[in-house]
Amino acid sequence: MVVRTPAKINLALLVGPRRSDGYHELASVYQAVSLYDEVTATSLPAGEISISVSGLGAEHVPVTEDNLAVRAASLLAEECAIDEGVALTIRKSIPVAGGMAGGSSDAAAALVACDALWGTELDREEMLAVAARLGSDVPFCVVGGTAVGSGHGELVTPALARGTYAWVLAFDPEGLSTPAVFSEFDRMLDDPELTASPTVPSDLMAALLAGNPVALGQALTNDLQPAALRLRPRLRRVLDFGTEHGALGSLVSGSGPTCVFLARDNDHAVDLAVTLSSSGLVSSVKPVSGPVPGARVI
Ligand code: C5P
Repeated sequence: MVVRTPAKINLALLVGPRRSDGYHELASVYQAVSLYDEVTATSLPAGEISISVSGLGAEHVPVTEDNLAVRAASLLAEECAIDEGVALTIRKSIPVAGGMAGGSSDAAAALVACDALWGTELDREEMLAVAARLGSDVPFCVVGGTAVGSGHGELVTPALARGTYAWVLAFDPEGLSTPAVFSEFDRMLDDPELTASPTVPSDLMAALLAGNPVALGQALTNDLQPAALRLRPRLRRVLDFGTEHGALGSLVSGSGPTCVFLARDNDHAVDLAVTLSSSGLVSSVKPVSGPVPGARVI
């Protein structure tokens, strides 16, 4: 069973104060983009779960029971009382610790792959409930498209969105830890009351409804960006570079350090990617489009 699973970007990420369970209340607008990991699941005897990882950043991915894809397979087997094993093979193109839900996407893919392999046939609601227990971004990676996330990010509702958007992703050579960025956010927060109930911005939802890239570019927003910039100051120059070269909008994706630029169209995205890549500011760049579907058997 082979599953292709996308990276996500956050078009908006509004963050409230830390809750008593350690998570932050979020209002997020996710979009899945055309950068994919591939997860293959093949049968093993009962109780055996193995994992191997190749591709971009594979050396930073744990190949133990801590791997989120392994946890996804174990949880599914436990929930459905399945007496079968699985060998998971992950081919990575999504950067590790890049703010693009790479690990969560692999977990979503493992769920979808094992569900098909084992014939558990969870309905969508059951699948999303299992996904939510694995991580905040896992349910979105199952759903894909463009969606609003609430709770700590795990409650997803498809968004009314028109159009396809041309994005350029700029990768940093070194990942950023999501918990570290949230902790920096906590340190920088002056008045927790100000952001107690984050809500998605209405101008961004209107831009998506209209399919208007110019308005979307202006409405992109990320409350974690100041914290990511504090931890990785060189990203400021990357964001400025995109703006100087005609990006309709520039922001850090999620907890970073990947930077995202909205281009006018596909040609502009390629031009922007070439210029950015020769600037020496980033380790690599990739033009992508979104929205695309979530984790799917191919
Ligand atoms: O849900 P996930 O395991 O992907 O989250 C990783 C970490 O990011 C959490 O342990 C927490 O430190 C932080 N986080 C948070 N608030 C959220 C989502 C994640 O503080 N809404």
